Amino acid sequence: MTQEQNQVAPNSLRGEQVIRTIVREHQGLWRIIDLMDLLEQDMNINANPPDELLFNTIFDYIQHFSNRVHSQPTEIRLYAVLREKSPESGPLLDKLEKGYVIGHEKLLELRQLLKECMANWPNGRESFGHGLSRFSAALRKHIKKEEGVVLPRARSLLTDEDWNKIVAARDQQDDPLFGDRVKEEFRDLRLKIISLTPERLGGLGLVHTERVTAHKKGQELLSIKDLVTSYGQIEVLHNIDITINSGEIVSLVGANGAGKSTLLMTISGLQPTNKGQIIFDGEDLSKISADKRVSKGIVQVPEGRQVFKDMTVYDNLLLGAYTRSKDPSIQDDIEKIYSKFPILRQKRYNLAGELSGGQQQMLAMGRALMARPRLLLLDEPSMGLAPLIIEEIFEIVRELKDEGMTIFLVEQNASQALALADRGYVLETGVVVLQGTGRELLSNEKVREAYLGM
Ligand SMILES: Nc1ncnc2c1ncn2[C@@H]1O[C@H](COP(=O)(O)OP(=O)(O)O)[C@@H](O)[C@H]1O
Ligand SMILES: [Mg+2]
Repeated sequence: MTQEQNQVAPNSLRGEQVIRTIVREHQGLWRIIDLMDLLEQDMNINANPPDELLFNTIFDYIQHFSNRVHSQPTEIRLYAVLREKSPESGPLLDKLEKGYVIGHEKLLELRQLLKECMANWPNGRESFGHGLSRFSAALRKHIKKEEGVVLPRARSLLTDEDWNKIVAARDQQDDPLFGDRVKEEFRDLRLKIISLTPERLGGLGLVHTERVTAHKKGQELLSIKDLVTSYGQIEVLHNIDITINSGEIVSLVGANGAGKSTLLMTISGLQPTNKGQIIFDGEDLSKISADKRVSKGIVQVPEGRQVFKDMTVYDNLLLGAYTRSKDPSIQDDIEKIYSKFPILRQKRYNLAGELSGGQQQMLAMGRALMARPRLLLLDEPSMGLAPLIIEEIFEIVRELKDEGMTIFLVEQNASQALALADRGYVLETGVVVLQGTGRELLSNEKVREAYLGM
């Protein structure tokens, strides 16, 4: 509290409410700045490349704030009203307004510095770090000026009528400080930031994979070479070659009976190989049991969900962590799954058999995530679900990818699976007949005819 604030009696009750809202918004922003400083220190002390997604989300948050203000047709409403009442505040308000514009440019610069820092790590760390410190210092100064000078002046000079005008502006202008829709957007971004922030820095640490960092992203994680699998005498998979890189969604599409599930079970070790190799993270899996593969991070969500129907949702989730039985963070992870799938929290004491198909699919995915996969194998997650739920399931798959998870998505639902995928393969009676980027396959004549019914 500044002296000015202490001395002046409030002129308006409405004003008190509005100021409280502004201060609360500032506090939210202030915490984000604190986090930015922590992350910068972490980068310098631990010499870890920055988490690109987390930083960009933070920049989104700040940019959102600045955009909303800066893109107004007129200047910020509060500033405008205060200008009328207090001409001597003009220069300061000019300066603060200009700060928004400069801040906007600086954010673009920071994003560029981040990109360069990621690409050339550890080169570029210093420039990015300096950019960050200068930016957070400027932002703090800006907030202090608003709280120390602008708000106290407004508090003493503006009337109820003025404040009502400011508040009324929210509906037309999405005023960043009061608009409900804008507030909602801020809340979403803030939640994302909290989720992505590592636990040691006070976040939820939602990322379940080892964070995919600059030097790992795009590296080969799974490599299947010349793989043959049979049921007895019948050869089902013929000389399969498939590669999955870290951080990718790779989709495998093919008709019923093509051998998709057989391939996934071969990868997870539930089905033996006759010939060929499966290399995961540089290690040949041939001598490694299915259980051990789960501990190494290969986790499958089987076709048809296969949750334990007469056990509760909670117990199903707990079972997903069976390979980590002594890990003290299991309860925290269950909380994270609940925040990803709120319906599972709501139904946590229900038997899994009481859930709808879509809910069971979410449970099956949640259970798989409890094993902290590095490669998630999804076998037809959309099977038998209503379009609305399918959207939701694919949206979650996309989110997992954003968090750095590597995903092998098997689907008969080719259009959506390929639209989501970085790369894809088409399997026909046990043979890979086509491969390419998701986009290439979607526009491929043959795929359109055979799988998209076009
Ligand atoms: N346990 C099994 N024993 C013998 N044949 C099987 C078994 N499971 C699947 N098959 C056969 O293997 C082929 C591939 O099946 P599958 O991998 O389930 O295909 P998809 O998942 O693509 O529908 C099919 O011809 C199927 O009949
Ligand atoms: Mg199948």
